[in-house]
Amino acid sequence: MGDETATSMLKRQAAEHAVAFVQSGMTVGLGTGSTAIFATRHIAALLQEGALREVVAFATSVAVRREAESLGIPLLADDMPRAIDLTIDGADEIDPRLDLIKGGGGALLREKIVAEASRRVIIVADDGKLSPCLGTRWPVPVEVLPYGWQSQARYLATLGAEVALRRDAAGAELRTDQGNLILDCRFGPIADAADLARSLAARAGIMEHGLFLGIAHDVVIAGCDGIRHLRR
Ligand code: 5RP
Repeated sequence: MGDETATSMLKRQAAEHAVAFVQSGMTVGLGTGSTAIFATRHIAALLQEGALREVVAFATSVAVRREAESLGIPLLADDMPRAIDLTIDGADEIDPRLDLIKGGGGALLREKIVAEASRRVIIVADDGKLSPCLGTRWPVPVEVLPYGWQSQARYLATLGAEVALRRDAAGAELRTDQGNLILDCRFGPIADAADLARSLAARAGIMEHGLFLGIAHDVVIAGCDGIRHLRR
């Protein structure tokens, strides 16, 4: 079995462990990415076989909304008329405090909106996502308005980042679901993530950043040695 297949199996295990916390009647946030999609598919299968009933979902990206629709999962309207009971989402980097870097799939703004509207957020990942310190392995994605974006790039450089405009597979600048751009900011290990988050939030033109601090309630990690369920 190749590496990719093994990692994919761990992602599925973590996602399916988290889906055990979904109950009939819940409103559920559906995360974006290759790990969270396993949770969406598992919820769809449980609804199909009648093991779950009357679940309504809210998607963190247009792609996930389309996937959920194609799987027959009932969806809440885009204006989110009620709070979310439980969101299951992935992450790119997870530190020992259960703080996260997210946004590898470009959905950070919607993911943060959904997480902040959720009573409980369970993050699912393979153990390759664990990190002693945020920024060690992954850049912080920063979503910026296209208007004046190079000014944000210069500002981010003054904060110590090596900044790269995210591009799609064809080499074109990647647009988020909101039509914004993403600047991937490599800071290296971040000594004070809360301070950095404040500096990012303080700048007009920065729409959101991928530091998710104090947001995850639970993290489910799958590794070769089994599943670990960490709680804040
Ligand atoms: C999307 C995200 C994803 O949850 C994150 O990138 C993890 O993705 P994957 O499960 O594919 O490794 O934040 O914006």
